[in-house]
Amino acid sequence: MANLLLIAVLIAIYCSLSQAEVKGSFDDNFSKSCPESHFKTSEDGQIWYLSLDHKAGCGFMTRQKYRFGWFSMKLKLVGGDSAGVVTAYYMCTEDGAGPTRDEVDFEFLGNRTGEPYLIQTNVYKNGTGGREMRHVLWFDPTEDFHSYSLLWNSHQLVFFVDEVPIRVYKNTNYTNNFFPNEKPMYLFSSIWNADDWATRGGLEKTDWKNAPFVSTYKDFSVDGCQWEDPFPSCVSTTTENWWDQYNSWHLSSDQKLDYAWVQRNLVIYDYCQDTERYPEKPEECWLSPWD
Ligand SMILES: *[C@@H]1O[C@H](CO)[C@@H](O)[C@H](O)[C@H]1NC(C)=O
Ligand SMILES: *[C@@H]1O[C@H](CO)[C@@H](O)[C@H](O)[C@H]1NC(C)=O
Ligand SMILES: *[C@@H]1O[C@H](CO)[C@@H](O)[C@H](O)[C@H]1NC(C)=O
Ligand SMILES: *[C@@H]1O[C@H](CO)[C@@H](O)[C@H](O)[C@H]1NC(C)=O
Repeated sequence: MANLLLIAVLIAIYCSLSQAEVKGSFDDNFSKSCPESHFKTSEDGQIWYLSLDHKAGCGFMTRQKYRFGWFSMKLKLVGGDSAGVVTAYYMCTEDGAGPTRDEVDFEFLGNRTGEPYLIQTNVYKNGTGGREMRHVLWFDPTEDFHSYSLLWNSHQLVFFVDEVPIRVYKNTNYTNNFFPNEKPMYLFSSIWNADDWATRGGLEKTDWKNAPFVSTYKDFSVDGCQWEDPFPSCVSTTTENWWDQYNSWHLSSDQKLDYAWVQRNLVIYDYCQDTERYPEKPEECWLSPWD
């Protein structure tokens, strides 16, 4: 009888513990680099606010590195007059702009009140980037939370906005190619002033009268391989993980319809079409996103 009671108590304790774990706090999975005053959370700790003023911005990064999987977060961007302000949300192999880093970016470029945000995506391999695309969105990203996600395996990187794939970046699988698949990456976000280039090419400056500028986050989720030293871990396996399997090597037929609609309506800039910058098309531009 005493044993049964003990078991019941243990189960009760375990249940309350695991419930707490499900939610988790910011500090379990992230570290931040900003003044205390520039980072706030909601009372329950589930919503995070990053702010930028003329003195400082704010950023955070995951404590863990990952290699391959599905990475997602919901963001609500700075509203009102956000010209010059950039919210970056990205994965990178290191904390900093080192000369051999791999990186995959979403950058949200603010604008004057009522003018459209742009979303710029980019890919870096071994320190070299220049793979920009720019899209307009089909909603106002400052009004509500929307999810921004990456699917990453050794065949493709797909950038999603909500359920819609807006960009497909394929692996040519050539030696020394432009596809980041060797090194594990952290996930980061930050808010900063980029009024030297972000809005209308730098013509629109940040109006500091509107500071602080605040970006809001919730629902971080990863369904991917968490890196553990020593190398190698997180190898591609087509048998264990859905993100490595055949169906994740290309878009589904429904995703292709959405992607075609995005290509027709929302693309503002595509480096693959920029012959002034690239007289010779970069090699990955020859690959079809439809394969
Ligand atoms: C978040 O942190 C918890 C506690 O350290 C850990 O068990 C979990 O794997 C982490 N989640 C992710 C997605 O890294
Ligand atoms: C990566 O870049 C570094 C420095 O630019 C260079 O020395 C190295 O050879 C490159 N590695 C590969 C695999 O291309
Ligand atoms: C790349 O080529 C290697 C060797 O031919 C092959 O084993 C691998 O599956 C290929 N990877 C992709 C992503 O096509
Ligand atoms: C800002 O608005 C202007 C005018 O509508 C537009 O040309 C520009 O692409 C928008 N976005 C950025 C980031 O410049």
